[in-house]
Amino acid sequence: MRKNVYLCTYFFYMCGIVGYIGKQEAYPVLIKGLHRLEYRGYDSSGVALIDKQKELSVYKAKGRVSDLEEFCKSKAISGTLGIAHTRWATHGEPNNVNAHPHYSQSENLALIHNGIIENYAVLKEGLIREGYTFQSETDTEVLIQLIEYVKISNRVDLCTAIQLALKQVVGAYAIAVIENGNPDLLIAARKSSPLVVGIGDAEFFIASDASPIVEYTKQVIYLEDEEIAIIQRNEPPKIVNLNNVEQTPQISQLELSLNALEKGGYPHFMLKEIFEQPRTLKDCMRGRINVENNNVTLSGIIDNKEKFLNAKRILILACGTSWHAGLIGEYLFEELCRIPVEVEYSSEFRYRKPIIYPDDIVIAISQSGETADTLAAIEQAKAAGAFVYGICNVVGSSIPRNTHSGSYTHVGPEIGVASTKAFTAQVLVLIMMALNIAKEKKTISQEQYERTLTELVQIPPKIEMILKQNEKIEDLSKIFTYAHNFIYMGRGYSYPVAMEGALKLKEISYIHAEGYPAAEMKHGPIALIDQEMPVVVIATHNTTYDKTISNIQEIKARSGRILAIVNKYDQKVKDMADYTIEIPETEECLDPLLSIIPLQLLSYHIAVKKGRDVDMPRNLAKSVTVE
Ligand code: G6P
Repeated sequence: MRKNVYLCTYFFYMCGIVGYIGKQEAYPVLIKGLHRLEYRGYDSSGVALIDKQKELSVYKAKGRVSDLEEFCKSKAISGTLGIAHTRWATHGEPNNVNAHPHYSQSENLALIHNGIIENYAVLKEGLIREGYTFQSETDTEVLIQLIEYVKISNRVDLCTAIQLALKQVVGAYAIAVIENGNPDLLIAARKSSPLVVGIGDAEFFIASDASPIVEYTKQVIYLEDEEIAIIQRNEPPKIVNLNNVEQTPQISQLELSLNALEKGGYPHFMLKEIFEQPRTLKDCMRGRINVENNNVTLSGIIDNKEKFLNAKRILILACGTSWHAGLIGEYLFEELCRIPVEVEYSSEFRYRKPIIYPDDIVIAISQSGETADTLAAIEQAKAAGAFVYGICNVVGSSIPRNTHSGSYTHVGPEIGVASTKAFTAQVLVLIMMALNIAKEKKTISQEQYERTLTELVQIPPKIEMILKQNEKIEDLSKIFTYAHNFIYMGRGYSYPVAMEGALKLKEISYIHAEGYPAAEMKHGPIALIDQEMPVVVIATHNTTYDKTISNIQEIKARSGRILAIVNKYDQKVKDMADYTIEIPETEECLDPLLSIIPLQLLSYHIAVKKGRDVDMPRNLAKSVTVE
């Protein structure tokens, strides 16, 4: 019978981890930290603490962090050293047993883990032969058993055992370990999964990102791959590598503000983040666009000008919403810079023996900067000699640290799982890159360059105008809650927007939706159209406007219900569509920044009407650190 494992009777890998050692009670710090990290996974969670009697206890619950809190209410939890975990299942279904922290066989060690131990099956077989038994289906339990086995069989201290065990591990990990009887020691290590160490006043923190730490200290160390932080109570953390060679850590200053992590009066983070976009896009332009001189410059482009001017091809690698931003990048770079572009899902690219040339520019786009597939694809591109440029939001995350150069999107933390403000800023960075390169390459006329820039700075106020229609869009959303399927269509720059609009709806309302290039409808999807099928059409004034009108007529002729995104005074489309939402006109290549806004709001309101958990939709996680 295991001692001190308190399992909530309900059960769950991307995962968020947090740890504390210091003068305060650890439990409240850990719980608050888990809430901040819940965007990383929210199937189950758990904490492990060492109390005054130096005894180690573990508490776990299936469900949200609030379920863990509820479960722990009646328990006398205390201790100033603890670790905690919120899980997004990969190995083993979400249940109490699979939830972290995991004990070692003797229950003397407890471990939390974000990542994947790829060779866990081989390691597990070896441990079973040595008499070890396993409670869970997780790879994580294998790691803690291995650490204990190495510790006992080699008669070494905990840190040496962790170093020796990690040398046997293939895969990704951010881990933290505590030991029964030792209330003064927290050990953390990472490889390919993020881990930050916070340095406070006689207190120290570890976490998957800075959000659980910022409230207590602004001083952090971002651990590098295969580094171990040995944190002894009241002593500055010591950083060593797997060979026990001491490393000199670089202490960084956090710029994150606590306010940015709160909902600020909005019912959901997603709505707050949609409404933040006029400001976040200004923040993203700040220091990069000079209106007086009519100039846009990105330091990453200027510092690597020759590479961009000589590039024969651009490869854009990304996943999810960032991939949709990448598709808009393809239109931009080909139109404005005349450079051929290929946009790839990182997960497909990395496994399909891609052809990469040394004079390719690879642009990796990622909000979190931690997406495992994108990180792996970057390594492949670097190995082939390509120059890799990152577009990321999270400062200090793995992708900016593993690319040759790049640009941050500077939108602050995005907490809603469905990406909104990060998407528009990724598109904005791609626009600024394309304008900067096009000017240098002289592939854009001065007149078009200036006109586009003038329009670009007008984008934030134009988004304000769209946001004023929030109530109208909320009303419209009521009409569509009945639907089980949706089609989104657009042409040119509006095609990736249609796909992004459809993804937003799927993610948070669980309504099936497809984004399609409008002209392709007649090659299949039009068979789906009947009076029940809502079709969202982006029909703004662009080079293919007339063609889009014909596509609308094709839908109309089959009784589809059309909701059109139109420019003001567009009577033609208004007469054909069942419902319309107006957006201001702009340059064609900037249109995605406006046309996506009503689609974000539409999916938000439909999801709310359907009673969905908008910020934490089922089965999803914000930061996908496993492949
Ligand atoms: C997850 C998130 C998406 C995101 C995608 C790529 O699926 O839920 O919102 O677009 O990962 O993430 P990244 O951080 O690389 O942009």
